[in-house]
Amino acid sequence: MGSRRKLIVVSNRGPVTFSRSSDRGRRAHRGGGGLVTALRSLVELHDVTWIASAMSVEDRAVADEAGYEAIAETARDGSTYRLRLVAHDPSAYDWFYNVVANPTLWFLQHYLWDLARSPNLDRGLHRAWNEGYVTVNAGFADAVVSELEAEPEAVVLFHDYHLYLAPRFVRTRLPEASLAHFVHIPWPEPDLWRVLPEAIRRALHDGLLANDVVGFHTERWRRNFVRSCVDIVGAEGDPAEGTVEYDGRRISVNARPISVDPAEFDELAASAPVLEREAELVASRPEWLVLRVDRTDPSKNVVRGFRAFERFLKDHPELHGRVGMLALLDPSRQDIPEYAEYLAAIQRVAREVNDDFQRDGWTPIDLRIADDFHASVAAYKQYDVLLVNAIFDGLNLVAKEGPLVNERGGVLILSENAGAHEELAEWAISVNPFDLTGQAEAIYAALEMPLGERRVRLNAIRAHIREHDVSQWVEAQLTDVDAAVESARARP
Ligand code: G6P
Repeated sequence: MGSRRKLIVVSNRGPVTFSRSSDRGRRAHRGGGGLVTALRSLVELHDVTWIASAMSVEDRAVADEAGYEAIAETARDGSTYRLRLVAHDPSAYDWFYNVVANPTLWFLQHYLWDLARSPNLDRGLHRAWNEGYVTVNAGFADAVVSELEAEPEAVVLFHDYHLYLAPRFVRTRLPEASLAHFVHIPWPEPDLWRVLPEAIRRALHDGLLANDVVGFHTERWRRNFVRSCVDIVGAEGDPAEGTVEYDGRRISVNARPISVDPAEFDELAASAPVLEREAELVASRPEWLVLRVDRTDPSKNVVRGFRAFERFLKDHPELHGRVGMLALLDPSRQDIPEYAEYLAAIQRVAREVNDDFQRDGWTPIDLRIADDFHASVAAYKQYDVLLVNAIFDGLNLVAKEGPLVNERGGVLILSENAGAHEELAEWAISVNPFDLTGQAEAIYAALEMPLGERRVRLNAIRAHIREHDVSQWVEAQLTDVDAAVESARARP
């Protein structure tokens, strides 16, 4: 492993978020979602300043007390890092997060629109773009520039779809900065970007191309990105190659699938809160447990997953009472109507299936809406089948976390549109996320698979993840940045 480097990590959601209660005072909680879970180990490996949005009321209080400078934070293993919380104007942030980043960019990049009906890019969207997305990205760029002025040799690592414009704002002010961006979500076909007004779709591409390196989880998203840079902003690039030429600069575009920290999961799996939840689960579990763990996001395809399970129950009455589905769902982005409606649809369908099939002592779908990471790890240990049927997904870390700690020779059912499919397909049962019959058959095939074969597949996934862990992903990023910066300097 290389030596410690100075890194400036920039992401909308930070590794911790603060809350306050009258009896317990200020408390720090781990930030949710796959991105910060995976990035957390960065701070153990390098000297990190992490710039993130102040999202809660208490985050804003922390930022204010620090005079909007960085504060010292301590990571899980005791190593320290600097955390700089940017307190954006509240209405700018609302437009940024609840209008542009999630219902627009996330929806576009996961193919969630029904184009006959949505989106309708009205005045609200234009205003949210100009006074929300642009403003918040400029706020992030100011924070990055102020950190880079103190540490000019630090490498900046931007993350995800919230920050497509910030790299251009930084590059304009500090042309020599080393900038890399990792996009954790799919990059769709170039034509889909044409749903957005020309100025917006050009600005997004132009912003990303201000980096030295742009990274994706898979070849599929990487190829689409190169093609859309050619189509949308007239860059030169060959989808088969890893570089794009734009505005007199060469940008390196790579596929580097993120991973997890096996030591963190080994430790978690043996921890008291996980063992406590596991004991409860063991006492109440059905003979065969089908598990899903997701945020309540339309891209995760929970409703079709329940419909597929219903189909499976119709086809296999002999298994009623013996198989149950446990759905551990973290409520997500509930100020956005599409998300609130999707959560309601999840609850409605679970109710329908249960009302139809449940009988004494057996509820087919055990739906739990809560943010409880320890419960997820306990269930990872206990599943017989793990269903990951995302419509589209940048990678999907559940598909890596579950097999790492599973103790029952559990089978992974994996959507062919999840980025993790590029790595794990040979040991999983692949499904088309729209095909309910195919998913019902996959559940049955997983339950029927002989234990010996299940174990062979599970061990192969585990060996792959242990070999390609998150520290390897981090080092690959830095090697990519060094190579890109060196090649830029060598050019006439
Ligand atoms: C995905 C995105 C992340 C995001 C996470 C949680 O993993 O790639 O950027 O942080 O979802 O979403 P939230 O909106 O709650 O931050």
